[in-house]
Amino acid sequence: MRAVTWHGRGDVRVDTVPDPVIQDPTDVVIEVTSSGICGSDLHLIEVMAPFMTVGDVMGHEPMGVVREVGAQVTEVKPGDRVVVPFNISCGTCWTCSQGLQSQCETTQNREQGMGASLFGYTKLYGQVPGGQAEYLRVPFGNTLPIKVPEGPADDRFVYLSDVLPTAWQAVQYAAIPKDGTVLVLGLGPIGDMAARIAMHLGAKQVFAADVVPERLARARARGVTVIESTKQDDVVQAVRDATGGRGPDAVIDAVGMEAHGSPLATMAQKATAVVPDAIMEKVMQVAGVDRLAALNTAIEAVRRGGTISLSGVYGGATDPLPLMRMFDKQIQLRMGQANVWRWVPDILPLLTDEDPLGVDTFATHHVPLADARDAYMNFREKKEGHVKVLLRP
Ligand SMILES: NC(=O)c1ccc[n+]([C@@H]2O[C@H](COP(=O)([O-])OP(=O)(O)OC[C@H]3O[C@@H](n4cnc5c(N)ncnc54)[C@H](O)[C@@H]3O)[C@@H](O)[C@H]2O)c1
Ligand SMILES: [Zn+2]
Ligand SMILES: [Zn+2]
Repeated sequence: MRAVTWHGRGDVRVDTVPDPVIQDPTDVVIEVTSSGICGSDLHLIEVMAPFMTVGDVMGHEPMGVVREVGAQVTEVKPGDRVVVPFNISCGTCWTCSQGLQSQCETTQNREQGMGASLFGYTKLYGQVPGGQAEYLRVPFGNTLPIKVPEGPADDRFVYLSDVLPTAWQAVQYAAIPKDGTVLVLGLGPIGDMAARIAMHLGAKQVFAADVVPERLARARARGVTVIESTKQDDVVQAVRDATGGRGPDAVIDAVGMEAHGSPLATMAQKATAVVPDAIMEKVMQVAGVDRLAALNTAIEAVRRGGTISLSGVYGGATDPLPLMRMFDKQIQLRMGQANVWRWVPDILPLLTDEDPLGVDTFATHHVPLADARDAYMNFREKKEGHVKVLLRP
């Protein structure tokens, strides 16, 4: 089959790889019909490169049609339409039963000291072949795939794999009080959707900061108060001015480790490009190379006693944080990979013809799988209004 494969920094290609097959009696194989490119995929072709291997199949936001099922699969059958969560979770262990599917005790990567395996996501998370491909092997066929109805286009449901639960969890973890205010940092797909969900769930005012004009325009059109800057001073000033000097009740960081405005960490991250991966892997595990600009903005902007919700991914092991400031401001901090299944029952009822979250028109680009290389680069460079790209195998 054809699949998007990793070849190095800034280098993904569409190659022919072996077709996936049923390995365990609870596996299913799906034919992928749509597969998103995520901001997290961009980390893999830059900062997280030391944890990748040439030929790794990328992608963790797929949906499609079940084609084959293992002997013990009873909950789906060939022909069913399913979305596949980006966490590989068993659905039956203790953490899964607590709604912490990203910590699944069956798929945790204990030898790496990491949480549940993820599709298409580095040696740290199990090195499982991903879903930017014609076919995908999905384990836990009775509990992992999300069955969705026939009828609407894939765009209606595909974001259940990642964008919707990630943004939903970001808003839940932000704990915005009734009639409260929230600042969203970053208006990529995650920040954009988090802003929509915060408004839908009744936040009084939603602020969002970014510098990409098309992304700001999308948020503005939905009633978000946009701040056209990612500079800490500008953002903090703007939200304080608008909240009587106090700051917003909550801040959602939807940026993560590659934020603009962290020159030293940017140099450290670039340095990983010239150091052999075996050495860099060790360095990454003990040293902090995240660009912390967005997190620092969040710490400054949030009101005293407010909450910061991190959905942006961080990967540095010893990042310095201003703990005195955080303690003194009495900041609550919550974070983590989204627990996809935890939020599916809340989100599914919103995926209707009324489309309150605007999923039907959320993708800016639909691209054949064969053109994935260009699509990755355009999304990375945020060219020509690229906000969300769906690949069509
Ligand atoms: N927690 C999870 O489960 C989960 C799931 C999906 C994605 N993510 C992470 O969420 C983050 C966002 O993903 P995305 O797909 O929206 O990515 P993206 O790269 O498209 O969007 C990031 C946006 O942040 C903006 N930005 C950069 N620096 C900024 C700063 N200092 N202040 C404000 N804005 C700034 C950029 O201009 C860009 O528009 C990534 O780190 C991704 O890995 C986490
Ligand atoms: Zn993703
Ligand atoms: Zn589990």
